Amino acid sequence: MRRLANRAAAGLLAAAGLLAHDPVTTKLTWSLEISRIVYRRCAGCHREGGAAPMPLLTYETARPWAKAIKEEVLERRMPPWGAVKGFGEFRDGAALTQEELHTIADWVEGGAPEGDPALLPMAPRPTGPVKAKPSAGTVVQGQRTLSKPMRLHAVRPEGLAQGGTLTATAKLPGGRVEPLLWIDNWQAKSGARDFVYREPLLLPAGTVVRAASEARLILIEAPSRVR
Ligand code: HEC
Repeated sequence: MRRLANRAAAGLLAAAGLLAHDPVTTKLTWSLEISRIVYRRCAGCHREGGAAPMPLLTYETARPWAKAIKEEVLERRMPPWGAVKGFGEFRDGAALTQEELHTIADWVEGGAPEGDPALLPMAPRPTGPVKAKPSAGTVVQGQRTLSKPMRLHAVRPEGLAQGGTLTATAKLPGGRVEPLLWIDNWQAKSGARDFVYREPLLLPAGTVVRAASEARLILIEAPSRVR
């Protein structure tokens, strides 16, 4: 928190400096491009009452953090995701696209202008990261053979330590192996979260789910009725 407070203070000073001296050298603006990325990718945590310590929903709250935002996204520390890309196909694959990265970096480099507030998108609905009911979960500790078929909606690692790893696969009765989740160097700040698949995975009875980790893996079934 101390570090955050210092950062915020430094950010404010930098913002004041920028406003006074740095010319705006970009056409990218908060109102048009950046707010849309932030609402989609960051707002789930960076809002009042969210998991992150500071909200980033308005130009006034985000502007002092511009330099830190650029740094965090370029280093790929934000948004915290945790899963290794390409292993399992997830919805809201969290990681920013190359284009989004460049857009944010160019906006900050160019003086982080606000633009015309009339162009702002609708404020995001105040929802957190996707959470399934805990009761819906099947616990895998090490290895588990499914006794009935399952439409796997999401997986959730539980008890992963900072820096921990987890590799989870499902071996179908036919012998095919489906990648479920790979986490390398887990960052505790990512928080307990569900990794939701783009499409539910159909796991027949007899499928062997393996979770190579000291942590548990919770299998979350897709709701049987379509909403
Ligand atoms: C899953 C929740 C979550 C999401 C999504 C998320 N953040 Fe964060 N962010 C956090 C938490 C928690 C912290 C504070 C912990 C820390 O500093 O490590 C943080 C801290 C930060 C910081 C301050 C880092 C520092 O201490 O200097 C910046 C800047 C930031 N986030 C930017 C972003 C941006 C930009 C996005 C979207 C592209 C984003 N975050 C998405 C949870 C999130």
